[in-house]
Amino acid sequence: MQDWQQRVDTALETFLPKDNTIPTDLHAAMRYSVLNGGKRVRPCLVYAAGLAANADDAGLDATACSVELIHAYSLIHDDLPAMDDDDLRRGKPTCHRAFDEATAILAGDALQALTFHILAQFLPPTIPAEQRIEMLNMLAVASGSRGMAGGQAIDLASVGKQLTIAELENMHIHKTGALIRASVKMGAMCSPQIDTRSLDKLDHYAKCVGLAFQIQDDILDEIADTETLGKTQGADKALNKPTYPALLGLDESRKMALDLYQEAIDSLAGFDEQAEPLRWLAKYIVDRKN
Ligand code: IPE
Ligand code: IPE
Ligand code: MG
Ligand code: MG
Ligand code: MG
Repeated sequence: MQDWQQRVDTALETFLPKDNTIPTDLHAAMRYSVLNGGKRVRPCLVYAAGLAANADDAGLDATACSVELIHAYSLIHDDLPAMDDDDLRRGKPTCHRAFDEATAILAGDALQALTFHILAQFLPPTIPAEQRIEMLNMLAVASGSRGMAGGQAIDLASVGKQLTIAELENMHIHKTGALIRASVKMGAMCSPQIDTRSLDKLDHYAKCVGLAFQIQDDILDEIADTETLGKTQGADKALNKPTYPALLGLDESRKMALDLYQEAIDSLAGFDEQAEPLRWLAKYIVDRKN
């Protein structure tokens, strides 16, 4: 995981405009929010899925950067006063605190655009053109109103409401699951000869870890401390957000995350040891402490 974290950090560094490039505040805000030590789980899923699917190594960096940039943009906007109104992210002031609200909004916008520029320009020709377009489309759908942004809208509309388990699951698979699912599939699609059967199995794996990821995020919001988390502990309760622990309790939420982990592992049954990092990442996602 460390190797992959370093690899994506190096690639992100080269794709982001330098902060002496005009407009300097905007570029500084973009770099501040991306190059600040996130766990890089989504890029790691790209690399791990690529390995499992014998992908073309040349496409993996651009793909890994693309999903991390969408993620970074989503966090900047998630923290804004109009959304979760958070002051702390990755152990540092949130983007709108370090800069200002307008710059944070624009940094998110620009990171989103940069994502699609990178995919359009830097996926290698060894991946068939149609497949490259499909990857681009996949990330666009996963990020938009039928994916992450849609999930965030449901999240905001659900404040103070008692959701059913089905509604809560629907919110989580959109706001967090969609991007994780796209990360795995796009990593696999860096392989010129990926077959639909393998892709379906990887997709099922990704659906399970995507939901498990947000369940664990909800659990950590309740049980971890601010310093370990690098973000304000207890924010969900303070904002009256519907979460898995709020609806099911901590024990039942933990059990659900572990069941999803097992289901993710089962869906990789047909894969050899090249899928070992995917198995490891599934475990990491449900066992992580931040
Ligand atoms: C936090 O994501 C926001 C969610 C989608 C739950 P991460 O836990 O991946 O955050 P970083 O990137 O490591 O900071
Ligand atoms: C955020 O969910 C999901 C995103 C799309 C960013 P949260 O609001 O729970 O994420 P944190 O806990 O602030 O990182
Ligand atoms: Mg939120
Ligand atoms: Mg939040
Ligand atoms: Mg959270």
